[in-house]
Amino acid sequence: MMDDSPLQVLTVPTAPYPDQRPTTAGGLRRKVYVFQSRRNYLHNFIQSVFSSIDLRDRQGSTVVVGGDGRFFNRTAIEVIVQMAAANGVGRLIIGHQGIMSTPAVSCVIRKHKAIGGIILTASHNPGGPDGDFGIKFNTANGGPAQEAFTNKMFQISRSLEEFAICPGLRVDLSTLGGQQFDLENKFKPFTVEMVDSVESYANLMRNIFDFAALKELLSGQSYKIRLDAMHGVLGPYVRRIICEELGSPANSAVNCVPMEDFGGLHPDPNLIYAADLVEAMREGPYDFGAAFDADGDRNMILGKHGFLVTPSDSVAVIAANIFCIPYFQQTGVRGFARSMPTSAALDKVAKATKIELYETPTGWKFFGSLMDAGRLSLCGEESFGTGGDHIRENDGLWAVLAWLSILATRRQSVEDIMKDHWLKYGRNYYTRYDYEDVDLDAAFEMMEYLENTIVDKSFAGQRFAVGDKIYQVEKADNFEYTDPVDSTISRNQGLRIIFTDGSRIIYRLSGTGSVGATVRIYIDSYEKDDISQDTQVMLAPLATIALKISQLHARTGRTGPSVIT
Ligand code: G1P
Ligand code: ZN
Repeated sequence: MMDDSPLQVLTVPTAPYPDQRPTTAGGLRRKVYVFQSRRNYLHNFIQSVFSSIDLRDRQGSTVVVGGDGRFFNRTAIEVIVQMAAANGVGRLIIGHQGIMSTPAVSCVIRKHKAIGGIILTASHNPGGPDGDFGIKFNTANGGPAQEAFTNKMFQISRSLEEFAICPGLRVDLSTLGGQQFDLENKFKPFTVEMVDSVESYANLMRNIFDFAALKELLSGQSYKIRLDAMHGVLGPYVRRIICEELGSPANSAVNCVPMEDFGGLHPDPNLIYAADLVEAMREGPYDFGAAFDADGDRNMILGKHGFLVTPSDSVAVIAANIFCIPYFQQTGVRGFARSMPTSAALDKVAKATKIELYETPTGWKFFGSLMDAGRLSLCGEESFGTGGDHIRENDGLWAVLAWLSILATRRQSVEDIMKDHWLKYGRNYYTRYDYEDVDLDAAFEMMEYLENTIVDKSFAGQRFAVGDKIYQVEKADNFEYTDPVDSTISRNQGLRIIFTDGSRIIYRLSGTGSVGATVRIYIDSYEKDDISQDTQVMLAPLATIALKISQLHARTGRTGPSVIT
């Protein structure tokens, strides 16, 4: 016989952790074993999330939950369901099997007017028992929580003494539809709705793009594409939208089964980790290729023979061709934005089209604030994130559909579109060096040394020569941003050196790594006419200068970057 007595709600004592400060993207990212081995590590963080939401807002509210399907996803969802019920949430909307892409969660939060969503992902970091796990909270606008909120979470986590949980509550993640639970406390019945993970997102895409035109491009024999979901969350989205609905052959989508360890792949869409795609594009007949990260918010765009469109260029090309996308014909274009380390290619388009351009710190939450205020339509980051104001996250598949819309309209190759763009606007050469797992103290000390060096009055005006190239410093600072909507000031957002010819060197410490420190050096330069050089050759002198000024090799003991993108 079924036991239908109300489920018990418990308050469990716990001890706080000092290290649950949210990352650049507003979440907690750690090795899986940290979540597994530290007592209540996950419970504490989730309680901090719920406790940061006013009880009045929380009670009876709707919260969305989804993850990229990586190892520990299921365990975490079971805990989240039990804790949401005990914390007064009225309804959870969960992606089927607990899996939903980050852009889809953003879309579903907005559609159902939820107070927010919990996303289980470590984005592009490897998964599996030896990989990373992450958890983040997006607020009612569908975007990563703003700093005021994540600061509150962090404060609460540092003195947390108990959490609320409903340990007997078991949810069935495999059956679509509603499930209702009676709790023994004052809260109303608690419901869980298991929803199709793709449906709401696919509907949104149908309203943004011209699916008939895309179908004409993709369903013919002549245009060939290859999309690589890297065994992350996006496989089912690619299959349903690109293959089933838009008619691209089934074999144009690869690695489309979500796996707990991503099949051993490192689901980070760049030339190094998406090497299989790059290889297939070089050898194969494909006109267009793209890869995505595990949770589906990042993208890499490739043309025939593996021609790479850098993310900084990608957003600029979409901006320059924005009216190939019906959505923007309807809404008009309110503004463009890029993160500070992203190249200024977008600025050139903004200037030519007389559209406002915002330069924000790294992280998607800054774009969200501008979008909520109706000031921003399209934005991007150099880290393979591109998106529009249809949601409050970067959106990998949206970026692909945006590119395909341009290709369907212009009927040129990716490479020709890019070259035309450079001919018209000039070219921003761009590269990023990442030094991963650097000793924390060494990294902080290097940044401190650098800041002291570059903010010194004598630094501006200094000249650096490499071979026959001479660069003179025009200005240098620690980037600081005042949000034009609410005037919030964000300091310490990266050290910038800008030279008189507009070239830049930027140094930042990553806010998303899971071990040690990751030092990023971003380098770019602008050429009006010299648009056909090799990027690494073009930027080599600036890279030498960047290493010289920072003394990176001596100060970190590293002799070369872990990854160059
Ligand atoms: C990285 C990227 C940044 C992106 C963030 C979240 O942050 O550089 O552009 O918004 O991931 O996806 P970082 O590790 O540099 O702090
Ligand atoms: Zn991601």
